[in-house]
Amino acid sequence: MAEVVGFSKEGRIGLITINNPPVNALSRAVRAGIRAGTEKGNADRDIAALVILCEGRTFIAGADIREFGRPPMAPHLPDVCQLIEDSPRPVIAAIHGTALGGGLEIALSCHFRIALPTAKVGLPEVKLGLLPGAGGTQRLPRLAGTRAALEMITSGAPVAAAKAKDMGILDEIVEGDLKAAALEYANTVVDRKLPLRRASQLKAAVESPTLFEDFAKANARRFRGFLAPLKCIEAVKIATELPFPEGMKKEREIFIELHDSDQSKAQRHVFFAEREVVRIPGLPDDLPTRDIRSVGVLGAGTMGGGIAMCFANAGIPVTLLDMKQEFLDKGLAIIKKNYANTVAKGRLAQEAMDKRMSLIRPTLAYEDLKDADLVIEAVFEDMTVKKEVFGKLDSICKPGAVLASNTSYLNIDEIAAATGRPQDVMGMHFFSPANVMRLLENVRGAKTSPEVYATAMKVGKKIGKAPVLVGVCDGFVGNRMLAKRTRECGFMLEEGALPWQIDRVIYGFGFPMGPYAMGDMAGLDVGWRNRKAKFDTLTPREQKNNILDKICEMGRYGQKTGAGFYKYDEKRNATPDPMIEELIISHSKEAGIARRAISDQEIIERAIYSMINEGAKILEEGIAARSLDIDAVWLYGYGFPVYLGGPMFYADTVGLKKIYDAILRYRDLVGAEYWTPAPLLEKLAKEGKGFYAR
Ligand code: 3HC
Ligand code: NAI
Repeated sequence: MAEVVGFSKEGRIGLITINNPPVNALSRAVRAGIRAGTEKGNADRDIAALVILCEGRTFIAGADIREFGRPPMAPHLPDVCQLIEDSPRPVIAAIHGTALGGGLEIALSCHFRIALPTAKVGLPEVKLGLLPGAGGTQRLPRLAGTRAALEMITSGAPVAAAKAKDMGILDEIVEGDLKAAALEYANTVVDRKLPLRRASQLKAAVESPTLFEDFAKANARRFRGFLAPLKCIEAVKIATELPFPEGMKKEREIFIELHDSDQSKAQRHVFFAEREVVRIPGLPDDLPTRDIRSVGVLGAGTMGGGIAMCFANAGIPVTLLDMKQEFLDKGLAIIKKNYANTVAKGRLAQEAMDKRMSLIRPTLAYEDLKDADLVIEAVFEDMTVKKEVFGKLDSICKPGAVLASNTSYLNIDEIAAATGRPQDVMGMHFFSPANVMRLLENVRGAKTSPEVYATAMKVGKKIGKAPVLVGVCDGFVGNRMLAKRTRECGFMLEEGALPWQIDRVIYGFGFPMGPYAMGDMAGLDVGWRNRKAKFDTLTPREQKNNILDKICEMGRYGQKTGAGFYKYDEKRNATPDPMIEELIISHSKEAGIARRAISDQEIIERAIYSMINEGAKILEEGIAARSLDIDAVWLYGYGFPVYLGGPMFYADTVGLKKIYDAILRYRDLVGAEYWTPAPLLEKLAKEGKGFYAR
């Protein structure tokens, strides 16, 4: 195997070159190699300065995340960083790509840092539920100021080279060949005998006496539920209060505490799940896919308009079709308004908006879809209409075009059967608002060819979505599981809970909103319509649980009508409505259900465990191939708290035996038709295993 860290001499400059693809992560071998190179350079009298440089696409992108969770092995990163900083010979970091996490910490330990204009630097550890553990929290505030360090460390967002130079993180931006520029820079440092700037010897400037409290307060919403950002603030504060060596000791202690926390384990799981989810089990990564250069979208309504925007945003031309000119005009006007809002907020240039608008071509003629590589249908949710549309597409679209439906609930196989090419038909289930929500459930029909769904996965990624491959069933993965939560919450209202209690508990669990506030925001009529459509499939208890019907019958559709489960003021602030409380209490009476106090714990268990049990069934049925697919759906599409890792990862954290026992309790309380353990969950629980650790 080639050496992961090389050492060479270029005149009087010692060059430490790291070559550990794909991202030059700091594995043990890399740490050892940097240490060896630094020692070698300092032991050689002919060497006057050292340069640290990386091969491949990027500078060091951080510690090797795959080594987390295993016993740490020497040399430890903080020690390597200290060795660099203590080097009597100047050490220069030459950065291209991304210097992230431990990579930036190595660079911050160097005496000088230069970078290409395209480079970025950042400390993304917080996104893994960690804090920079090799001096990042101690050196960055000393170099860039405390406020800037707080922002960078708690957000984890990378900073572009030019800004990093302004902040004092980089000394110089260089153009052209990085190695040549680095050698030149190193020679200049030697010639001019520039003093070595050791970050640890600087003092961190605290810009205001209330900086830390103010910062935590201003970001309380962003940090809600997360452990790491608060610990990051604590560590940066220490940098302003304690001498460097003591600060380093404290940083290490906090790093270990976070590293061992369930939150960090969950967030590390999410990091790998995000990357794994686009790989389809059983298919090679290099399976040829179809080129998608132009797209057709049917229906210029809520979803069609948003979907068209997704493609235009990625520079892919879209033909947008509807039945009547007025529907097209309305759809386009909404698209235009959405873009204009983004421009007004300064997040999009006017020219970019114009370009995107020009990529969306409205039409009334199916004929205009004949050259599209991919067609996505987003017309009314009605099987007869969908079949008619797919029949037409079959007769018009070119051979090899991917034909997709955005249906929420209808059977993709039945839709595919309306064509003579079911192998080219699949679901592409976007979430509303489609131009914002990241989740894309790609639904593989029984006959969809692997090449077709692999194409949808690739194109989904290209347009910035988080595509997850799922199978055909009612509600696919996300809505099918959500239906269980909705049912249990509805039952709990009858049994003694109130909407605001359930919302408080679900919000406290970490979701962005509780189910009732969410329903009010989305419009209760949507769920009401859905309930009516499915009424015959509901159990007698579900049919009789008609609180939603009663609220909608009063014209209370949620925020848009000023009232729903809550009442709203003109600024759309919600307050619990005594009238709804009365309605629910009298409903319980009519249904003959004696109301009782429902504990917060019961709400969590019934809302979340019911979904986990359904998730287990989804796995058994092969609707989702892996637990991580289910977790990805919930993380990207439903705001499941990232620090819990998704419902299936969370289930493992709780312990399947505990969940199994709770399911049996609720079977006795609510009934076996709602609470029967999924065989997979039962098996794993009895074997003492988890969804991941099987
Ligand atoms: N350790 C191990 N593997 C890593 C890694 C890391 N730090 N960073 C990326 N990888 C792997 C990915 O898992 C992926 O592997 P795969 O091909 O087998 O799925 C491969 O490298 C390529 O990664 P991406 O698909 O993400 O490639 P991109 O080009 O889209 O992005 C990147 C590159 C911006 C570097 C992105 O990978 C990234 O953000 N990586 C994480 C960086 C990070 O979090 N660093 C901090 C680590 S913690 C730390 O340093 C602790 C220290 O303070 C003590
Ligand atoms: P919508 O009612 O806002 O838009 C539907 C559009 O399709 C209308 O503009 C209508 O004129 C047009 N249309 C109807 N029949 C047509 C035909 N035969 N040919 C061409 N155009 C036709 O509906 P919405 O909400 O956009 O839903 C569309 C699809 O997306 C449905 O299948 C729905 O289940 C699904 N969906 C909806 C979500 C939502 O939150 N609204 C979320 C995810 C999926």
